[in-house]
Amino acid sequence: MSVTAAQIKKMSYTEFVGEINQWNSLPGGVSTINMWRVFGQVNTDSRYLDIACTTGLKSRTMSAMTGCQAYGIDISHNSIEAARFNAKKYTPLSQVSYAVQDGTEFKPKYKFTHVSFGASLRFFQNPQKMIDNLTSNIFEEKGTILASEFFVHTQIPQGLIDDFYKIFDIYPTNSIYKDVMTMYKGFDIFYESKHSPTPETTEELEHYCHSTISKYESEKQIKLDEEVFNIMYGRLFQIKKMSNILREYQQYNVLVMNYDKKVYPNRYIELF
Ligand SMILES: C[S@@+](CC[C@H](N)C(=O)[O-])C[C@H]1O[C@@H](n2cnc3c(N)ncnc32)[C@H](O)[C@@H]1O
Repeated sequence: MSVTAAQIKKMSYTEFVGEINQWNSLPGGVSTINMWRVFGQVNTDSRYLDIACTTGLKSRTMSAMTGCQAYGIDISHNSIEAARFNAKKYTPLSQVSYAVQDGTEFKPKYKFTHVSFGASLRFFQNPQKMIDNLTSNIFEEKGTILASEFFVHTQIPQGLIDDFYKIFDIYPTNSIYKDVMTMYKGFDIFYESKHSPTPETTEELEHYCHSTISKYESEKQIKLDEEVFNIMYGRLFQIKKMSNILREYQQYNVLVMNYDKKVYPNRYIELF
């Protein structure tokens, strides 16, 4: 049975993006994944763990690009279900599998060469517990961390933070660069670039929202009635518009960092 307008309005933010299978993206999108691929030297021999994978964009794209073995984990059942669906439908040749799993507790059967965080580590209840699990259970003697983090160059006004919270049920990153980077202080920076996200035009936002809700219709093989289509479209547009406003305050970086058991948790290389 098709979803109703009342159900759409009642859903939490995460339920809504799960329902419409929005392709949850990391800062910089596929361009960031491509920089990770090049500077992280991901190839067919790599075993890549996509931690907090949401709907799987990073892992299925990386595996399709490189032929690496990818494994995605997330604590959200809905996200994992969508990630499995997306990989099968959109990148059938990727070698990726998914599991509902808390990254801080994950004890894999084999070690990974690469892991990634797409602006997600800050949303873990205990980011340090995740880092400790990386160094004790996920990597062997060495490993590569692919990350991308938002930070602000100008503090986001409180009114905007409150508006953001009403839509997303979480607070946006309002930390400056140095504060965000303390999470990674035991690792060597192998590559880093900093970027300013360009706000999208109204026309670009409309195109994205229309594409995503039409994708919902084709994936569910239904034709939504006009009222439901407009309510879904409107809610997605409001989400995108709010993220777009924040872009004025934000920057993000693309990071490749190395873990070396002989050095960690110290740092002998100067920062530049
Ligand atoms: C803000 S989203 C990150 C989205 C991201 N930009 C991306 O690249 O897909 C945070 C995600 O982290 C997941 N998450 C939070 N804590 C987790 C944990 N302990 N283990 C695994 N996933 C976790 C949530 O379920 C959610 O899907």
